[in-house]
Amino acid sequence: MGNDGIDSILREHRLFPPSPAFSDIARVPSASRLDALYSHAAADYEGFWAALARSELNWTKPFSKILDSTKAPHFRWFYDGRLNVSYNCLDRHLEKRADKPAIIFEGEKGDTRTLSYGELHREVCRFANALKAQGVALGDRVVIYMPMVPEAVVAMQACARIGAIHSVVFGGFSAEALKDRIEDAGAKVVITADGGQRGGKIIGLKVACDKALKSGGKSVTTVIVLKRTGQHIAMKSGRDIWWSEAVADHADSCDAVAADAEHPLFILYTSGSTGKPKGIQHSSAGYLLGTIVTTQWVFDIRDSDVFWCTADVGWITGHSYVAYGPLANGATIVMYEGAPTVPDAGRFWSVCERHKVTIFYTAPTAIRALMKFGDSWPGKYDLSSIRLLGTVGEPINPEAWMWYHRTIGRERCPIVDTWWQTETGAIMIAPVPGVVPTKPGSCTRPLPGIAADVVNEQGNTITKPDQGGYLVVKRPWPSMLRTIWGDDDRYVETYWKRFGKRYYLAGDSARRDADGYFWIMGRIDDVLNVAGHRLGTMEVESALVAHPMVAEAAVVGRPDDVKGEAIFAFVVLRGERPPGGVDDKITGELRNWVTDQIGAIAKPSDIRYVDNLPKTRSGKIMRRLLRSLARGEQITQDTSTLENEAILAQLQGKA
Ligand code: PRX
Repeated sequence: MGNDGIDSILREHRLFPPSPAFSDIARVPSASRLDALYSHAAADYEGFWAALARSELNWTKPFSKILDSTKAPHFRWFYDGRLNVSYNCLDRHLEKRADKPAIIFEGEKGDTRTLSYGELHREVCRFANALKAQGVALGDRVVIYMPMVPEAVVAMQACARIGAIHSVVFGGFSAEALKDRIEDAGAKVVITADGGQRGGKIIGLKVACDKALKSGGKSVTTVIVLKRTGQHIAMKSGRDIWWSEAVADHADSCDAVAADAEHPLFILYTSGSTGKPKGIQHSSAGYLLGTIVTTQWVFDIRDSDVFWCTADVGWITGHSYVAYGPLANGATIVMYEGAPTVPDAGRFWSVCERHKVTIFYTAPTAIRALMKFGDSWPGKYDLSSIRLLGTVGEPINPEAWMWYHRTIGRERCPIVDTWWQTETGAIMIAPVPGVVPTKPGSCTRPLPGIAADVVNEQGNTITKPDQGGYLVVKRPWPSMLRTIWGDDDRYVETYWKRFGKRYYLAGDSARRDADGYFWIMGRIDDVLNVAGHRLGTMEVESALVAHPMVAEAAVVGRPDDVKGEAIFAFVVLRGERPPGGVDDKITGELRNWVTDQIGAIAKPSDIRYVDNLPKTRSGKIMRRLLRSLARGEQITQDTSTLENEAILAQLQGKA
């Protein structure tokens, strides 16, 4: 074993207990308090969640039933109760917090805006009335394709207020991807903006929306357009309406519709192991409860906090920890529209200083990217307001963790590494920061009421430390996904079939160390994690083969210093193979093509042209071999099934 190996083992055993200063005033301040939560959940699982649902949510009609498992794996929580999610995020704070900032917004160009709870409530009501005037009713689907501006949250909350089901599509997705999502959801209305601001450029959201609706999306009757950047855009009469006109003349009060606990709050598309993204469907009450309690346990939220989660509302993190969890707790959130490096690499730290951010939550890829610019950038800013740091989306390497700890947290702030997924709705495995000592790279232990485990092929718990296995959740939890929109079979097949419908299969492998800490090892399926964004290799492959020049394509991930994983594509062209397997012109064209089909996040970093893809005798692409090749590793696999051994040299980039 070389020095690196020994070093990493030493690092893994470093333990960072919270400081007494943090623990003393934490919501969960002691091991005994945390143990009490675990014991309650262990002794009376349903009672544990029911007590929280009663204390943390305001019900229009209280529930008397807790969990229905009769149609497992279709579970229902608190299912005879009724409530409104927007009421729980806004109205219930008005008495005490009407003037408290709900959203502190900053645009890339430096424009700022603060909306108090009272103002946010009025905006949401007016927009909810506007949606109703456009014919949107309970259960209708509304696609939101917006920049990171307060109106994105207003739109989400307005949907929740009237029981419309929103489906937010990340603004970085292309027209084609937007169209697919609009069609799958059968959306009636699309809410967008003329454009968004990022990296000094304007993202043409309305242009993409027009393109999407030109070739499809026939269910859409109305497009509501927020004026954000002010550039000229076309408005289609009878279909498009400006946001300002849509809300004009509407009252700033609007009844919050009482919906069933199980009423779908939203659909959010995420990548799986097939070419077609899955519409993850979440509930109202259970989802909201999950986001509320995790914001308390993991982020230790309190009234004086300024919480900044840097995720875009187009991802689950931006749903649970921008639009819902913190607001339902009456917290102040920061929203920033723009790139972390504009005008320079100090932007995030400058936002933290100026808005006195106390809790900062971001992705390891952002940490690694900013770390590359050196310590001098964070060094220029007063980060003393920060008391807690968080990460999400991918494993964080110990080096980045230590930098975050020293340079941003100034060795004072606990770091909560939070494992969860679009499907889980809320954080599942993470430290409770006033109690649980952290280890760089581990998300520590499952939260109370979350039956996460690591099991072997047979579904038995792996008790031996540090043995990898399948990450599963053995009991249903309130914020879990309910199904895949329009494809219930896929829901059962993807998440439940592997272990006889008993356990939820997360799709990650993990191991547990001798202290019972969880270490996420990676995906077990063909899902990549590129810069914290989840992408299916099949999705990128289908995009590539849709190009007239491409006959076949196989996509794998290779490690990348900043992005975590980068996309490596092996492509068989219809015509001649370019000499040496490289062709910058075709590569440029294919990269643009993938950007058009999916979005810039799916653009392959490398494309290597080959005559054939390596396949097993049964015709399956040998992905493990391709992964080794993309990493430039020595080939240890059996390659005797290759039709033509000469292909190996091509695959290796040597011919
Ligand atoms: O592989 C895990 C990884 O991200 C996947 C979920 O992706 P998505 O649904 O896009 O949600 C991301 C934000 C919640 C997981 O299956 N992942 C997420 N958090 C972590 C992680 N891997 C390691 N450590 C984490 N903290």
